[in-house]
Amino acid sequence: MSADNKIWIFDTTLRDGEQALRASLSQKQKIQLAHAIARLNVDVMEVGFPVSSPGDFASVQRIAREVKGPVICGLSRAVSADIEACGEALKDAERRRIHTFIATSPLHLQYKLRKTLAQATEQAVAAIKLASRYTDDIEFSCEDAGRTPIDDLCWIVERAIAAGATTINIPDTVGYTIPNEFAAIIHSLKSKVPNIDKARLSVHCHNDLGLAVANSISAIQAGARQIECTVNGIGERAGNCSLEEVAMIINTRKDVLAPLYTDIKTTEIYRSSHLVSQICNMPIQPNKAIVGENAFAHSSGIHQDGVLKAQNTYEIMSPEHVGIRQNELNLTSRSGRHVIQHRLAELGYTKEDYQLEEVYQSFLALADQKGRVFDYDLEALVFFQNLQEQDEYYKLEFLSSSTHTGHVASATVGLSCDGKIVTEAATGNGPVEAAFLAVQRISQLQIKMVDFNLSAKGSGEDALGQVDITAEYQGQRFHGAGLATDIVRASVLAYVHVLNMIQRAQTIHAHKQAKNTESQSNQTAGEA
Ligand code: KIV
Ligand code: ZN
Repeated sequence: MSADNKIWIFDTTLRDGEQALRASLSQKQKIQLAHAIARLNVDVMEVGFPVSSPGDFASVQRIAREVKGPVICGLSRAVSADIEACGEALKDAERRRIHTFIATSPLHLQYKLRKTLAQATEQAVAAIKLASRYTDDIEFSCEDAGRTPIDDLCWIVERAIAAGATTINIPDTVGYTIPNEFAAIIHSLKSKVPNIDKARLSVHCHNDLGLAVANSISAIQAGARQIECTVNGIGERAGNCSLEEVAMIINTRKDVLAPLYTDIKTTEIYRSSHLVSQICNMPIQPNKAIVGENAFAHSSGIHQDGVLKAQNTYEIMSPEHVGIRQNELNLTSRSGRHVIQHRLAELGYTKEDYQLEEVYQSFLALADQKGRVFDYDLEALVFFQNLQEQDEYYKLEFLSSSTHTGHVASATVGLSCDGKIVTEAATGNGPVEAAFLAVQRISQLQIKMVDFNLSAKGSGEDALGQVDITAEYQGQRFHGAGLATDIVRASVLAYVHVLNMIQRAQTIHAHKQAKNTESQSNQTAGEA
């Protein structure tokens, strides 16, 4: 396969995707997602905007150190402080890319930047030159390129390439263009920019009109060789181009798109999609292409009959191709550790992905409650084990709740707080409200519930209940998740998860303040 026909997949789930979440992710969650995205075999991963916050800087730095395989990329405006932070955060990556951008459309230049195109170009050129001190892999984006006059676009692109940009990205920032228009932009750049062959052309489409994937496919047909996308299409507003959709289009429609290809490992799609949905608290709509619950479900009798006779009558790709497994092993409390380990390996988990002993103990407890444990239960146990950090401050020790029709509900909750057990009781309109009030009394934090979502993991009346809550504390939002056979317990576990996230954020904040005070007093001592 010729390298000229390869479509580079640039994943921006941890940057454009993360930026649109209601609650920001912890560093541990970002690392977990970064490993899953790397397993998809993407070519480049944009993992944050290092100058935007010390937390973002630290997670970009950690991913750069830990995650091997793809090029690790950070975003920066075309200003020195951003480029320097990006270069510093990416320093230890095996392969690194600095992505810098400036707006080029008349609207953005006039109202947002109050600059002429020439001034913006000068700023971009300076930023690219500065970035070249840190890496020779530099991407430059013309923000709002979709609404930039083509001659302006060609002008700045030519100068960006001359300054050292090796990838030129054309974003349809507001998701405004339609496929033939977007393809024409790529054709024009290819024919009008004299040095265009010195850079790879990339596209970054938003989905405001539902055209992000269609525009990206038109762009590669017109000569673009990198698509920027996110898992499940998460991102600003209506989101970005969806990774799984473009990968499967290129794979399934080889009759039209070959010799174009991607290196995406399609069997990792389903797993990474579900992980992103869980961790980001962004449910997948059932009819979502490729990864929705109904994507491969045939409800009409005629369709079912057709698929049984010949799969391709109504299926253009197979579920196995995107990593959906048909056989779900049913394990019981008699299954030993090696069976669990073996099944998890078949499901694609390596030993590093989980602590066997902890998962096994949770498995035994669940098998005692449910009798049979399915693959989705096992995967949920691994997922929830990974949510826990070492040395949690709060732990649920005890919960009892009661409810009688026509009467108020009551709950008693015991939490261990840094090793000391505190118990509180409360009443409420329902057992969840009563239990939440009891937890609130224990923590004494003024937390506002923003969102509460209950879903079943698997099917049947013995399915595990998962509760996801978004809560606000001192202006910051936190996402907590809990899993149990009993939904009141799942709710309290989700609340305890939020408390631990807040506690961790406060510890990090206090640590930073202490460091700042220390460096200020050292400075004062030095000046004196
Ligand atoms: O949508 C956009 O224009 C962006 C750029 C920073 C690439 O996200
Ligand atoms: Zn974007």
